[in-house]
Amino acid sequence: MSDFSRTLNFTSANEDGATELAALALTPADHVLCLTASGARPLDLLLGNPARITAIDINAAQNELLRLKIAAFRTLDDEALYAYLGIAGSRHRLDLHRRVSGGLPPASRAFWEARLGAISSGVWHSGRWERVLRLGAFGTRRLRGRSIDKLFAAGSLTEQADIWQGRFDDGLWHGAVRILAQRWFWTRIIGEPGGAFLPAPAGSEARLTGLFRRAARHVLFRESDFAVLLFHGRHTLQHALPLHMRPGNLAIVRERIDRIGIAEAGLDGLGTSGLGPFDAFSLSDFGSYCGQSDYDACWNGVIAAAKPGARFCERVFMNPVAPGPAIAGRVRVDAETSQALTHTDKAIIYDIRCGTLDPARA
Ligand SMILES: C[S@@+](CC[C@H](N)C(=O)[O-])C[C@H]1O[C@@H](n2cnc3c(N)ncnc32)[C@H](O)[C@@H]1O
Repeated sequence: MSDFSRTLNFTSANEDGATELAALALTPADHVLCLTASGARPLDLLLGNPARITAIDINAAQNELLRLKIAAFRTLDDEALYAYLGIAGSRHRLDLHRRVSGGLPPASRAFWEARLGAISSGVWHSGRWERVLRLGAFGTRRLRGRSIDKLFAAGSLTEQADIWQGRFDDGLWHGAVRILAQRWFWTRIIGEPGGAFLPAPAGSEARLTGLFRRAARHVLFRESDFAVLLFHGRHTLQHALPLHMRPGNLAIVRERIDRIGIAEAGLDGLGTSGLGPFDAFSLSDFGSYCGQSDYDACWNGVIAAAKPGARFCERVFMNPVAPGPAIAGRVRVDAETSQALTHTDKAIIYDIRCGTLDPARA
């Protein structure tokens, strides 16, 4: 099984940047710290018009992907960009890559020369989780094709919730979730270390089936680019796309793309990294990979690099870890906004935890 810490695990998008933008309320003076992952979040955050974004990841491959996406935005027009990344079809990606590669630093050029297969098939859908979701969508479409079409054509949230309850929320779904949410399935089959922090199977089943039941009442699935990935297996121009890839946003992203800086760093070492201080933090679901002590160490790093009153947005997926007593006083969760954003978040599978930081408070 390929090493998770060095492979491309996230290459498209499975979060909703609108939530981060609402939680962080960015200003033109802000310096934002953001976990890189697929690059979707740092690129989406450009729409908030901050002064600077520093994207960090402990997995250098994810940072190389963001460098590639930035070079593609800089060198290709909209049509070529969609074709090159794999959102639109193309037989000329290696030709396009020659232009994009010219805009990369030598080490990144070498990184992608060793991965021309992913470039040729479209890097957007080449990630570990993108391949897992595509396989899942292939099976789900065989079993529930017509129901999926009905779900994506629902005229209202009420109609959608009824379709979900009547056609999806059944024994087959619960059984599949119970199997797929087994720790060994994530760690040994998918190669996802976050599997070690999953709740017990019954807890995972209740959490995951509950998340979709909740989302079916609050978010139109056809407007969710994550639901498109889950039920259709890939992003196309005919379906919902992440904020930064929407036709109306490409020019703004391109204009502001030089504001993104990239660094190989971990959250726990932020205080001594020299990268901050920061006005805002987009932390994704870093807790999915942590036990309590590592989790608190990450928060200590964030707090040490925060300006007083800095805003944060965190995502909670399956691992219900929360700031420990030693730091809870300095991480001020805005429960009302967190709850509201949890309901509007189009990425379905997360609870949102947002608020402000008070580095000085004991
Ligand atoms: C938490 S994962 C989730 C991915 C996310 N759903 C996405 O697609 O954007 C995000 C990324 O954070 C990185 N990461 C996790 N913990 C980290 C830490 N403590 N410091 C820096 N990067 C971290 C992982 O390598 C991964 O690429």
